[in-house]
Amino acid sequence: MNVEPDPNLTVYFGGQYMPLHEARVGILTHALHYGTGVFEGIRAHWDEAGQDLFLMRPLEHFERWKRNCGILRIEVPATTEQLCAIAVQLLRRNRLRTDVYIRPLAYKSAERVGVSPDDRDAFAMVALPFGEYLHSDMGLHATVSSWRRIEDNAIPARGKICGAYVNSALASDDARRAGFDEAILLNESGQVAEGSTSNIFMVRRGRLITPPVTENLLEGITRNSVMELAEREIGLTPFERPIDRSELYVADELFLTGTAVGIAPVVRVDHRPVKDATVGPVTSQLRHLYIEAVHGRLRDYGKWLVPVYRPGSESGWSANRPEHVHAA
Ligand SMILES: Cc1ncc(COP(=O)(O)O)c(C=O)c1O
Repeated sequence: MNVEPDPNLTVYFGGQYMPLHEARVGILTHALHYGTGVFEGIRAHWDEAGQDLFLMRPLEHFERWKRNCGILRIEVPATTEQLCAIAVQLLRRNRLRTDVYIRPLAYKSAERVGVSPDDRDAFAMVALPFGEYLHSDMGLHATVSSWRRIEDNAIPARGKICGAYVNSALASDDARRAGFDEAILLNESGQVAEGSTSNIFMVRRGRLITPPVTENLLEGITRNSVMELAEREIGLTPFERPIDRSELYVADELFLTGTAVGIAPVVRVDHRPVKDATVGPVTSQLRHLYIEAVHGRLRDYGKWLVPVYRPGSESGWSANRPEHVHAA
Protein backbone atom coordinates (compact mmCIF):
# COMPACT_ATOMS: atom_id res chain seq x y z
CA MET A 1 0.00 0.00 0.00
CA ASN A 2 1.34 3.44 -0.91
CA VAL A 3 0.02 6.28 1.23
CA GLU A 4 -0.50 9.87 0.00
CA PRO A 5 -0.61 11.96 3.17
CA ASP A 6 -2.72 15.05 3.88
CA PRO A 7 -0.40 18.08 3.27
CA ASN A 8 -1.74 19.69 6.46
CA LEU A 9 -0.73 16.77 8.64
CA THR A 10 1.40 17.96 11.57
CA VAL A 11 4.94 16.58 11.37
CA TYR A 12 8.10 17.01 13.44
CA PHE A 13 10.89 18.64 11.45
CA GLY A 14 13.90 20.79 12.39
CA GLY A 15 13.00 20.55 16.08
CA GLN A 16 9.44 21.88 15.58
CA TYR A 17 5.93 20.74 14.85
CA MET A 18 4.70 22.09 11.51
CA PRO A 19 2.40 21.22 8.59
CA LEU A 20 3.81 18.59 6.23
CA HIS A 21 3.74 20.99 3.26
CA GLU A 22 6.18 23.32 5.08
CA ALA A 23 8.68 20.57 5.93
CA ARG A 24 11.06 20.70 2.97
CA VAL A 25 14.70 19.78 2.25
CA GLY A 26 16.98 21.32 -0.37
CA ILE A 27 17.80 19.47 -3.57
CA LEU A 28 21.49 19.21 -2.67
CA THR A 29 20.81 17.44 0.63
CA HIS A 30 23.46 14.73 1.05
CA ALA A 31 20.97 11.96 1.93
CA LEU A 32 18.90 12.65 -1.19
CA HIS A 33 21.87 11.97 -3.46
CA TYR A 34 23.76 9.32 -1.56
CA GLY A 35 21.08 7.53 0.50
CA THR A 36 22.79 8.49 3.76
CA GLY A 37 19.78 8.31 6.04
CA VAL A 38 18.40 5.79 8.51
CA PHE A 39 14.69 5.35 9.06
CA GLU A 40 12.36 3.46 11.36
CA GLY A 41 8.81 2.20 11.10
CA ILE A 42 6.57 2.05 14.14
CA ARG A 43 2.90 1.13 14.38
CA ALA A 44 0.15 2.41 16.58
CA HIS A 45 -3.06 0.35 16.62
CA TRP A 46 -6.47 1.80 17.38
CA ASP A 47 -8.57 -0.17 19.85
CA GLU A 48 -12.21 0.72 19.22
CA ALA A 49 -13.51 -1.01 22.36
CA GLY A 50 -11.05 0.72 24.69
CA GLN A 51 -11.00 3.98 22.65
CA ASP A 52 -7.22 4.23 22.78
CA LEU A 53 -4.31 4.09 20.40
CA PHE A 54 -1.43 1.78 21.35
CA LEU A 55 2.12 2.40 20.19
CA MET A 56 3.82 -0.95 19.62
CA ARG A 57 7.25 -1.27 21.29
CA PRO A 58 8.26 2.34 20.58
CA LEU A 59 11.23 2.28 22.94
CA GLU A 60 12.69 -0.76 21.18
CA HIS A 61 12.15 0.91 17.79
CA PHE A 62 13.82 4.16 18.86
CA GLU A 63 16.64 2.23 20.49
CA ARG A 64 17.20 0.28 17.25
CA TRP A 65 17.03 3.50 15.24
CA LYS A 66 19.65 5.28 17.34
CA ARG A 67 21.99 2.29 17.19
CA ASN A 68 21.55 1.95 13.44
CA CYS A 69 22.22 5.67 13.03
CA GLY A 70 25.58 4.94 14.64
CA ILE A 71 26.51 2.78 11.63
CA LEU A 72 26.37 5.95 9.48
CA ARG A 73 27.67 8.14 12.31
CA ILE A 74 24.41 10.07 12.38
CA GLU A 75 23.59 11.57 15.75
CA VAL A 76 20.00 11.80 16.98
CA PRO A 77 20.23 14.34 19.83
CA ALA A 78 17.32 12.96 21.87
CA THR A 79 16.82 10.06 24.26
CA THR A 80 14.52 7.16 23.35
CA GLU A 81 12.05 8.53 25.94
CA GLN A 82 12.13 12.00 24.33
CA LEU A 83 11.57 10.42 20.91
CA CYS A 84 8.66 8.48 22.33
CA ALA A 85 7.22 11.76 23.65
CA ILE A 86 7.47 13.30 20.16
CA ALA A 87 5.62 10.30 18.70
CA VAL A 88 2.84 10.64 21.30
CA GLN A 89 2.61 14.39 20.59
CA LEU A 90 2.33 13.79 16.84
CA LEU A 91 -0.49 11.30 17.31
CA ARG A 92 -2.32 13.61 19.70
CA ARG A 93 -1.83 16.78 17.65
CA ASN A 94 -3.18 15.02 14.56
CA ARG A 95 -6.02 13.55 16.65
CA LEU A 96 -5.38 10.18 15.05
CA ARG A 97 -7.94 7.59 16.09
CA THR A 98 -7.17 4.89 13.56
CA ASP A 99 -4.27 2.54 12.76
CA VAL A 100 -1.13 4.58 12.21
CA TYR A 101 2.38 4.19 10.83
CA ILE A 102 5.13 6.38 12.26
CA ARG A 103 8.18 7.11 10.17
CA PRO A 104 11.22 8.60 11.97
CA LEU A 105 14.05 9.57 9.59
CA ALA A 106 17.57 10.75 10.45
CA TYR A 107 19.86 11.85 7.68
CA LYS A 108 23.03 13.58 6.54
CA SER A 109 21.69 17.06 5.91
CA ALA A 110 24.57 19.09 4.44
CA GLU A 111 23.60 20.70 1.13
CA ARG A 112 26.64 20.23 -1.05
CA VAL A 113 28.14 17.85 -3.59
CA GLY A 114 30.65 15.19 -2.49
CA VAL A 115 30.01 11.66 -1.23
CA SER A 116 32.01 11.77 2.00
CA PRO A 117 29.57 12.87 4.71
CA ASP A 118 30.27 15.50 7.34
CA ASP A 119 28.75 15.92 10.80
CA ARG A 120 25.63 17.85 9.78
CA ASP A 121 22.70 15.62 10.75
CA ALA A 122 18.98 16.20 11.03
CA PHE A 123 15.94 14.19 11.94
CA ALA A 124 12.21 14.25 11.32
CA MET A 125 9.15 12.23 12.29
CA VAL A 126 5.83 11.73 10.50
CA ALA A 127 2.72 9.83 11.66
CA LEU A 128 0.31 8.69 8.93
CA PRO A 129 -3.10 7.04 9.08
CA PHE A 130 -2.25 3.62 7.68
CA GLY A 131 -4.46 0.57 7.25
CA GLU A 132 -3.42 -2.82 5.92
CA TYR A 133 -0.11 -2.70 4.04
CA LEU A 134 -0.67 -5.97 2.19
CA HIS A 135 -4.14 -7.48 1.85
CA SER A 136 -3.06 -10.80 3.21
CA ASP A 137 -6.11 -12.42 4.87
CA MET A 138 -6.40 -15.08 2.18
CA GLY A 139 -2.61 -15.45 1.95
CA LEU A 140 -0.07 -13.99 -0.44
CA HIS A 141 1.52 -15.30 -3.62
CA ALA A 142 5.25 -14.60 -3.30
CA THR A 143 8.13 -15.03 -5.69
CA VAL A 144 11.82 -15.63 -5.11
CA SER A 145 13.43 -12.49 -6.49
CA SER A 146 16.26 -12.55 -8.99
CA TRP A 147 17.73 -9.64 -6.99
CA ARG A 148 19.99 -10.77 -4.13
CA ARG A 149 19.76 -9.30 -0.62
CA ILE A 150 22.47 -6.75 -0.13
CA GLU A 151 25.54 -7.98 1.78
CA ASP A 152 26.52 -6.78 5.25
CA ASN A 153 29.91 -5.72 3.90
CA ALA A 154 28.27 -3.61 1.17
CA ILE A 155 25.36 -1.93 3.01
CA PRO A 156 24.22 -3.60 6.24
CA ALA A 157 20.63 -4.85 5.87
CA ARG A 158 20.21 -4.65 9.64
CA GLY A 159 20.75 -0.90 9.44
CA LYS A 160 17.46 0.25 7.85
CA ILE A 161 19.64 2.52 5.77
CA CYS A 162 17.79 4.56 3.14
CA GLY A 163 20.13 3.70 0.25
CA ALA A 164 19.80 -0.03 0.97
CA TYR A 165 16.09 0.13 0.16
CA VAL A 166 16.89 0.39 -3.53
CA ASN A 167 17.43 -3.36 -3.14
CA SER A 168 13.92 -3.82 -1.66
CA ALA A 169 12.36 -1.45 -4.21
CA LEU A 170 13.84 -3.36 -7.18
CA ALA A 171 12.66 -6.71 -5.82
CA SER A 172 9.20 -5.48 -4.85
CA ASP A 173 8.63 -3.64 -8.13
CA ASP A 174 9.62 -6.64 -10.25
CA ALA A 175 7.48 -8.99 -8.16
CA ARG A 176 4.37 -6.81 -8.42
CA ARG A 177 4.78 -6.15 -12.12
CA ALA A 178 5.02 -9.91 -12.65
CA GLY A 179 1.70 -10.36 -10.81
CA PHE A 180 2.99 -11.51 -7.40
CA ASP A 181 2.12 -9.90 -4.07
CA GLU A 182 5.60 -9.88 -2.60
CA ALA A 183 9.26 -10.75 -3.21
CA ILE A 184 11.43 -13.07 -1.11
CA LEU A 185 15.13 -12.28 -1.37
CA LEU A 186 17.99 -14.76 -1.14
CA ASN A 187 21.38 -13.63 0.13
CA GLU A 188 24.58 -13.99 -1.88
CA SER A 189 25.05 -17.55 -0.56
CA GLY A 190 21.67 -18.48 -2.01
CA GLN A 191 19.91 -18.90 1.34
CA VAL A 192 16.60 -17.24 2.15
CA ALA A 193 17.12 -13.81 3.74
CA GLU A 194 13.75 -12.03 4.04
CA GLY A 195 10.89 -10.30 2.24
CA SER A 196 11.29 -6.84 0.69
CA THR A 197 10.08 -5.19 3.92
CA SER A 198 9.51 -8.14 6.23
CA ASN A 199 11.15 -11.12 7.90
CA ILE A 200 10.19 -14.67 7.01
CA PHE A 201 9.17 -17.73 9.02
CA MET A 202 8.61 -21.30 7.88
CA VAL A 203 6.80 -24.16 9.63
CA ARG A 204 8.26 -27.52 8.66
CA ARG A 205 7.76 -30.89 10.37
CA GLY A 206 6.27 -29.19 13.43
CA ARG A 207 9.12 -26.69 13.83
CA LEU A 208 9.01 -22.93 13.56
CA ILE A 209 12.11 -21.81 11.66
CA THR A 210 13.48 -18.40 10.69
CA PRO A 211 16.89 -17.43 9.27
CA PRO A 212 19.45 -16.14 11.80
CA VAL A 213 20.19 -12.41 11.88
CA THR A 214 23.60 -13.05 10.30
CA GLU A 215 21.96 -14.00 6.94
CA ASN A 216 21.66 -10.33 5.79
CA LEU A 217 18.32 -9.26 7.14
CA LEU A 218 16.74 -6.66 9.33
CA GLU A 219 16.62 -7.66 12.98
CA GLY A 220 12.87 -7.29 13.05
CA ILE A 221 11.01 -6.28 16.17
CA THR A 222 7.89 -8.10 14.93
CA ARG A 223 10.09 -11.16 14.34
CA ASN A 224 11.19 -10.93 17.95
CA SER A 225 7.58 -10.46 19.17
CA VAL A 226 6.40 -13.46 17.14
CA MET A 227 9.19 -15.62 18.56
CA GLU A 228 8.13 -14.69 22.09
CA LEU A 229 4.44 -15.36 21.35
CA ALA A 230 5.24 -18.73 19.74
CA GLU A 231 7.36 -19.86 22.66
CA ARG A 232 5.19 -18.57 25.49
CA GLU A 233 1.67 -18.94 24.12
CA ILE A 234 1.76 -22.00 21.89
CA GLY A 235 4.81 -23.80 23.25
CA LEU A 236 6.59 -23.74 19.89
CA THR A 237 10.30 -23.00 20.31
CA PRO A 238 11.56 -20.99 17.31
CA PHE A 239 14.71 -22.22 15.57
CA GLU A 240 17.12 -19.87 13.84
CA ARG A 241 18.84 -21.68 10.98
CA PRO A 242 19.51 -21.05 7.28
CA ILE A 243 16.59 -21.84 4.96
CA ASP A 244 17.17 -23.19 1.44
CA ARG A 245 15.17 -21.76 -1.44
CA SER A 246 13.61 -25.14 -2.20
CA GLU A 247 12.38 -25.44 1.40
CA LEU A 248 9.98 -22.62 0.56
CA TYR A 249 8.39 -24.99 -1.97
CA VAL A 250 8.00 -27.90 0.45
CA ALA A 251 7.14 -25.99 3.66
CA ASP A 252 3.98 -26.68 5.66
CA GLU A 253 3.43 -22.98 6.35
CA LEU A 254 5.13 -19.71 5.49
CA PHE A 255 4.51 -16.23 6.77
CA LEU A 256 6.08 -12.78 6.73
CA THR A 257 6.41 -10.47 9.72
CA GLY A 258 6.92 -6.72 9.92
CA THR A 259 5.67 -3.52 11.46
CA ALA A 260 3.74 -2.57 8.33
CA VAL A 261 2.55 -6.06 7.30
CA GLY A 262 1.96 -7.53 10.77
CA ILE A 263 1.85 -11.31 10.21
CA ALA A 264 1.12 -12.04 6.55
CA PRO A 265 0.56 -15.67 5.47
CA VAL A 266 2.20 -16.80 2.21
CA VAL A 267 0.15 -19.55 0.53
CA ARG A 268 1.90 -19.80 -2.84
CA VAL A 269 5.53 -19.34 -3.87
CA ASP A 270 6.44 -19.17 -7.56
CA HIS A 271 3.11 -20.78 -8.58
CA ARG A 272 3.61 -23.66 -6.15
CA PRO A 273 1.07 -24.06 -3.34
CA VAL A 274 2.42 -24.01 0.21
CA LYS A 275 0.92 -27.32 1.38
CA ASP A 276 -2.75 -26.95 0.41
CA ALA A 277 -2.52 -23.20 -0.28
CA THR A 278 -4.57 -22.21 2.76
CA VAL A 279 -3.52 -20.28 5.85
CA GLY A 280 -2.03 -22.89 8.22
CA PRO A 281 -2.85 -23.41 11.92
CA VAL A 282 0.37 -22.01 13.39
CA THR A 283 0.14 -18.89 11.22
CA SER A 284 -3.53 -18.41 12.19
CA GLN A 285 -2.83 -18.78 15.89
CA LEU A 286 0.14 -16.43 15.85
CA ARG A 287 -1.78 -13.89 13.79
CA HIS A 288 -4.66 -13.95 16.22
CA LEU A 289 -2.34 -13.61 19.23
CA TYR A 290 -0.42 -10.77 17.61
CA ILE A 291 -3.57 -8.82 16.75
CA GLU A 292 -4.87 -9.26 20.29
CA ALA A 293 -1.52 -8.23 21.79
CA VAL A 294 -1.05 -5.05 19.73
CA HIS A 295 -4.60 -3.91 20.53
CA GLY A 296 -3.95 -4.18 24.26
CA ARG A 297 -6.16 -7.22 24.77
CA LEU A 298 -3.50 -9.56 26.19
CA ARG A 299 -2.53 -8.55 29.67
CA ASP A 300 0.94 -10.15 29.57
CA TYR A 301 1.92 -8.06 26.55
CA GLY A 302 0.88 -4.67 27.92
CA LYS A 303 4.64 -4.29 28.46
CA TRP A 304 4.97 -3.78 24.67
CA LEU A 305 2.46 -0.94 24.45
CA VAL A 306 2.24 2.77 25.15
CA PRO A 307 -1.39 3.98 25.33
CA VAL A 308 -1.41 7.33 23.50
CA TYR A 309 -4.52 9.00 24.91
CA ARG A 310 -4.18 7.84 28.50
CA PRO A 311 -3.22 10.88 30.64
CA GLY A 312 0.49 10.82 31.50
CA SER A 313 1.48 8.74 28.48
CA GLU A 314 3.64 11.59 27.20
CA SER A 315 6.07 10.84 30.03
CA GLY A 316 4.96 7.75 31.89
CA TRP A 317 6.02 4.81 29.73
CA SER A 318 8.98 3.73 31.84
CA ALA A 319 6.66 3.36 34.83
CA ASN A 320 4.05 1.62 32.64
CA ARG A 321 6.60 -0.78 31.35
CA PRO A 322 8.87 -2.18 34.05
CA GLU A 323 10.14 -4.90 31.72
CA HIS A 324 12.16 -3.81 28.74
CA VAL A 325 12.41 -6.44 26.01
CA HIS A 326 14.91 -5.86 23.23
CA ALA A 327 14.72 -7.06 19.66
CA ALA A 328 16.61 -10.23 18.76
C1 LIG B 1 13.83 -5.26 4.98
C2 LIG B 1 12.96 -5.41 6.19
N1 LIG B 1 12.95 -6.58 6.84
C3 LIG B 1 12.18 -6.79 7.92
C4 LIG B 1 11.34 -5.79 8.40
C5 LIG B 1 10.50 -6.04 9.61
O1 LIG B 1 11.03 -5.37 10.74
P1 LIG B 1 10.10 -4.90 11.93
O2 LIG B 1 9.37 -6.08 12.38
O3 LIG B 1 11.04 -4.37 12.95
O4 LIG B 1 9.20 -3.86 11.38
C6 LIG B 1 11.33 -4.55 7.76
C7 LIG B 1 10.47 -3.48 8.27
O5 LIG B 1 10.35 -2.42 7.73
C8 LIG B 1 12.16 -4.36 6.63
O6 LIG B 1 12.19 -3.18 5.98
